[in-house]
Amino acid sequence: MTQLVHTPRVFSGIKPSGGLTLGNYLGAIKRFVETQETGVETLYCVVDMHAITVWQDPAELRTATHEVAAGYLAAGIDPAKSILFNQSQVSAHAELGWIFNCVARVGWMNRMTQFKEKAGKNAEKQSLGLYAYPSLMAADILLYHATHVPVGEDQKQHVELTRDIANKFNHDFKAPDFFPVPEPVIEGPATRVMNLRDGTKKMSKSGESDMERINMLDDAATIAKKFKKARTDPDGIPETYDDLSDRPEARNLVDIYASLADKTPQDVVAEYAGAGWGKFKPALADVAVEKLAPISDEMKRYMDDPAEIDRILAVGGDKARAIADPILAKTYDLVGFVRPK
Ligand code: TRP
Repeated sequence: MTQLVHTPRVFSGIKPSGGLTLGNYLGAIKRFVETQETGVETLYCVVDMHAITVWQDPAELRTATHEVAAGYLAAGIDPAKSILFNQSQVSAHAELGWIFNCVARVGWMNRMTQFKEKAGKNAEKQSLGLYAYPSLMAADILLYHATHVPVGEDQKQHVELTRDIANKFNHDFKAPDFFPVPEPVIEGPATRVMNLRDGTKKMSKSGESDMERINMLDDAATIAKKFKKARTDPDGIPETYDDLSDRPEARNLVDIYASLADKTPQDVVAEYAGAGWGKFKPALADVAVEKLAPISDEMKRYMDDPAEIDRILAVGGDKARAIADPILAKTYDLVGFVRPK
């Protein structure tokens, strides 16, 4: 239904908190580039307003924003084909986010597993913004009437909440189909790139040990060392991919290899069946360096010219506002806010 009345439009975002990791690249940016190349309308955002839901040093936030933008550009996001911008440049995100705070229910927020995981036993000490995070994310998506949201497995619940918000808004304000009910798009072998030291945890920018992640700016020697030291189990590569189902660390390395080499994990297992880690890990490091070195070189080139990044983000911000402003204006009318005509 939705897809009949709304033209397909893709929105996704990455938080600038800490440096960019292999998880961001394989789980997000690489797929964003593929989507861009299909010709569908795409908006890719650096979600700096989400980043500050936990404390960010201002200078580090600026650098991290530049680094995420540089990662998008270096990996092939083309500002002529995609709208690339940082969230805080388009104030309508905050404005629609407020309206959604008044649509979403406290009970819905209380079910969000990401908040529970991040807050742990310290929920009382978290920012109110961290708690309201999912309604700002809904605003990111619905502000552009986006229909498809490429995300990792861990973000599925947030896209489901976005669907609930869209439905409730449309219902409460008697505006059927005003907001599309967007679909999460969770595809590829590496929608969940895991921590190299603990295969049950996501590879994150902010985990305590640098050995648990590959950073996009790591050099070849560091990449090789991190894969060599990555946790595995005594068994090597099995006969079939299914045999990896209860071996999270081993499966993660196979998934990473597959995603980097543009193969299926089943093919990678077939190719290396019976091999030990002493053979697989160096091969993995080789393919990683081969694919990542050109991207990281290009990222460094952009990072040396932050004014160029700022210029690109400003153009993207203008294009984003051109879509967002009329949608926000219509939302205000539906809500009953008085504004100059
Ligand atoms: N919450 C997402 C993450 O942590 C980032 C994000 C913010 C996002 N707004 C979004 C992703 C909108 C998709 C669409 O990965």
